[in-house]
Amino acid sequence: MASDLSSTFVITIIAISFLSLAPIHPVLAKNPCQFPAIFNFGDSNSDTGGLSAAFGQAPPPNGLSYFGSPAGRYCDGRLLIDFIAESLGLPYLSAFLDSVGTNFSHGANFATAASTIRPQNITLSRGGFSPISLNVQFYEFNDFHKRSQVVRKRGGVFETLMPKKEHFSSALYTFDIGQNDLTAGYFSNMSTDQVKAYVPDVLNQFQTIIQAGPVGCLPYMMDRIPVLASQIDVHGCATPFNDVAQFFNQGLKKTVERLRKDLVDAAITYVDVYSLKYSLISQGRKHGFKKPLRSCCGHGGKYNYNKNLGCGAKVNKHGKEVWVGAACEDPSSAVIWDGIHFTQAANKYIFEGIVDGSFSDPPTPLNMACYRN
Ligand SMILES: *[C@@H]1O[C@H](CO)[C@@H](O)[C@H](O)[C@H]1NC(C)=O
Ligand SMILES: *[C@@H]1O[C@H](CO)[C@@H](O)[C@H](O)[C@H]1NC(C)=O
Ligand SMILES: *[C@@H]1O[C@H](CO)[C@@H](O)[C@H](O)[C@H]1NC(C)=O
Repeated sequence: MASDLSSTFVITIIAISFLSLAPIHPVLAKNPCQFPAIFNFGDSNSDTGGLSAAFGQAPPPNGLSYFGSPAGRYCDGRLLIDFIAESLGLPYLSAFLDSVGTNFSHGANFATAASTIRPQNITLSRGGFSPISLNVQFYEFNDFHKRSQVVRKRGGVFETLMPKKEHFSSALYTFDIGQNDLTAGYFSNMSTDQVKAYVPDVLNQFQTIIQAGPVGCLPYMMDRIPVLASQIDVHGCATPFNDVAQFFNQGLKKTVERLRKDLVDAAITYVDVYSLKYSLISQGRKHGFKKPLRSCCGHGGKYNYNKNLGCGAKVNKHGKEVWVGAACEDPSSAVIWDGIHFTQAANKYIFEGIVDGSFSDPPTPLNMACYRN
């Protein structure tokens, strides 16, 4: 492990868990952190094109509110990670798995939609979960860490496409994963107690990967873990799932405390994305959101959501293809995009809630995440 004391390692965890890990800077003059790059790990909450590159592009109308066409995101526009990149003055992250038109000069994104922390042991077609689980994302990161520098040394255009060596030790590392580990159990017909029983194993694997992963190749570990849980009981959402989510988050908080002790050179922040998403759904109307639980893009039912006819779905009616999974008229007033993911407007709301640190522990603004309290 390099011992570059001038740099810190910052981690942020969002969603069911959002953790950011940043290199620590000496707390002399508290200027905003200058993160030259972001390396992200996660699931669909932060996938900017990984699953699309490997398993087929997210269909239209994804991307319609901002990119104008599908952009590898399961959203009408930008994700939380996009707003974070914007706020740090960095370009949107290219997906590591995308081999077309990517530019990694300011970071890379290893997230794929439907990723879990634990490997799922079943294929995507059978289980619906991405084979690119968190451990695989770290293999990719380690490979990228080494080979990007070999490629960069070729000079010319390659130099402009790969991050500088020193970016690795001063980048913001973000983790936005965990939700699918919980739903995986429910989808295989486990009871809430059975799901709860394996949560410690999920957290252990998470801790092992963080310790062996970025911290193995980077001098420090980051300081932010936002945790976002989304569905709410009194507002018609599944209570047991939220209980498990909170159970997971409590465990995550303890995991973070252990990581802080073990990784003395890291600044780790935990962000309570659970409360943030809860407030979005419970008080959404106050913030201009209409029907907070109703999916904007979908087809049928109380929630405009049908798992067999999702956003972008087409059906054959009398020999004609009819688009049934269309977007609602005004995605900017919707919270839920496709029954699973949040809209750009919701992502922006979530971003605004975490950027100032009011949902973080310690309560540090995002651009101060490189300082260890
Ligand atoms: C996958 O298989 C391994 C080895 O049998 C096991 O340790 C792990 O818990 C399994 N993963 C899940 C999600 O069941
Ligand atoms: C890659 O992105 C960086 C930063 O935006 C830019 O300066 C560089 O020219 C880009 N490289 C190519 C080949 O487009
Ligand atoms: C779960 O239960 C349902 C209903 O009994 C069944 O159709 C489905 O195949 C089960 N799924 C798994 C993964 O066992």
